[in-house]
Amino acid sequence: MSSINTCFYVIVSILSLLAFSSNANLSPHFYARTCPNLQTIVNNTMKQAIATEPRIGASILRLFFHDCFVQGCDASILLDDTATFIGEKTAFPNINSVRGFEVIDNIKHNVEAACNATVSCADILALAARDGVVLLGGPSWKVPLGRRDSRTANKSAANSDLPSPFLNLSALITSFAHKGLTARDLTALSGGHTIGKAQCQFFRTRIYNETNIDPNFAATRRATCPVSGGNTNLAPLDTVTPTHFDNNYYTNLVNQRGLLHSDQVLFNGGSQDALVSTYSGNSAAFFKDFAVAMVKMGNISPLTGTNGEIRRNCRVVN
Ligand code: HEM
Ligand SMILES: *[C@@H]1O[C@H](CO)[C@@H](O)[C@H](O)[C@H]1NC(C)=O
Ligand SMILES: *[C@@H]1O[C@H](CO)[C@@H](O)[C@H](O)[C@H]1NC(C)=O
Ligand SMILES: *[C@@H]1O[C@H](CO)[C@@H](O)[C@H](O)[C@H]1NC(C)=O
Ligand SMILES: *[C@@H]1O[C@H](CO)[C@@H](O)[C@H](O)[C@H]1NC(C)=O
Ligand SMILES: *[C@@H]1O[C@H](CO)[C@@H](O)[C@H](O)[C@H]1NC(C)=O
Repeated sequence: MSSINTCFYVIVSILSLLAFSSNANLSPHFYARTCPNLQTIVNNTMKQAIATEPRIGASILRLFFHDCFVQGCDASILLDDTATFIGEKTAFPNINSVRGFEVIDNIKHNVEAACNATVSCADILALAARDGVVLLGGPSWKVPLGRRDSRTANKSAANSDLPSPFLNLSALITSFAHKGLTARDLTALSGGHTIGKAQCQFFRTRIYNETNIDPNFAATRRATCPVSGGNTNLAPLDTVTPTHFDNNYYTNLVNQRGLLHSDQVLFNGGSQDALVSTYSGNSAAFFKDFAVAMVKMGNISPLTGTNGEIRRNCRVVN
């Protein structure tokens, strides 16, 4: 190759890298100069919140998932309904279920005091989700930043794009594929269910009507989740270590102790069995894949540049 050709080749390679690397606009250093203490503020506020209630780490992680799967990671889930605005909070997967909004308000308040009108609610959520995982004993990762906040929300997209706990494996894989995530990402991210709780109404059919369930586990769960009534009674998603982010979720699956139908389908003679077995025996493999998949999920259709806005209050558009 002549040197001119080589030079041309190098330039084209760089351009295509810029064009195809996902979200070249997001960077872990986005606020390095405009809000140098951001990560400390978020982390300290999360520490206080988790000290008060360990479950909040789980709730914030789920909030981030439910944000990213609906028109991208744009804090659309944080917007309150008003007389003239319908948000996502009353969509079926969210209503009386997603929680942690007060903690995000608190973080936003503390961030605004240090760096007024600079940091998006979408980025705060991404950082808080990571910090919750770390504070409960899970892996850490660098969070790409620079997302901006939406001026819209989409309740029907929340209803259609957030997976139901009653889905089978192929439907779960399809749901994640629609967001650019692989079956491996699905299986790694489902490990988020190593922390937090679920309501009886979402696992009743599993504990009464499914056969791929450990009988002792089913009996334990039935004790506080009756055939009728008690819909909102809570049970830990991981009975063994409910507030510790570890790989025990996968050991539960191998032992037919998955709480949700959508958990146990990952280990039920299908395509994900081998990966579930790997994660159950190798926490480092799970942590690595979880961190990679969290960054991928956090890259779903962010608003960047001059799109969207930096909300002053995470619950309302400016
Ligand atoms: C694979 C599809 C998924 C389905 C069908 C699903 C479904 C559910 C359901 C039904 C609950 C219980 C909600 C309630 O009872 O109010 C729940 C809780 C939870 N989910 Fe998922 N989920 C999925 C994926 C994920 C992902 C990808 C994450 C994060 C990486 C995640 C994190 C959580 C956490 C942490 C909780 C506990 C929240 C709390 O205690 O407040 N889930 N999920
Ligand atoms: C947040 O604080 C915890 C506990 O002090 C620490 O282990 C962790 O590394 C911090 N996270 C970040 C991103 O600074
Ligand atoms: C914060 O920024 C907003 C929007 O730019 C501005 O209206 C407000 O006066 C600022 N507040 C402080 C305390 O600087
Ligand atoms: C809201 O989401 C639905 C379902 O995904 C989609 O068909 C519709 O175009 C979205 N609405 C807006 C205004 O983006
Ligand atoms: C999975 O569920 C979908 C729709 O919910 C259904 O069409 C499909 O047949 C099911 N697949 C399997 C393998 O059961
Ligand atoms: C179990 O399945 C039967 C037959 O389909 C149904 O009538 C019953 O309501 C189910 N029970 C629960 C708790 O889901």
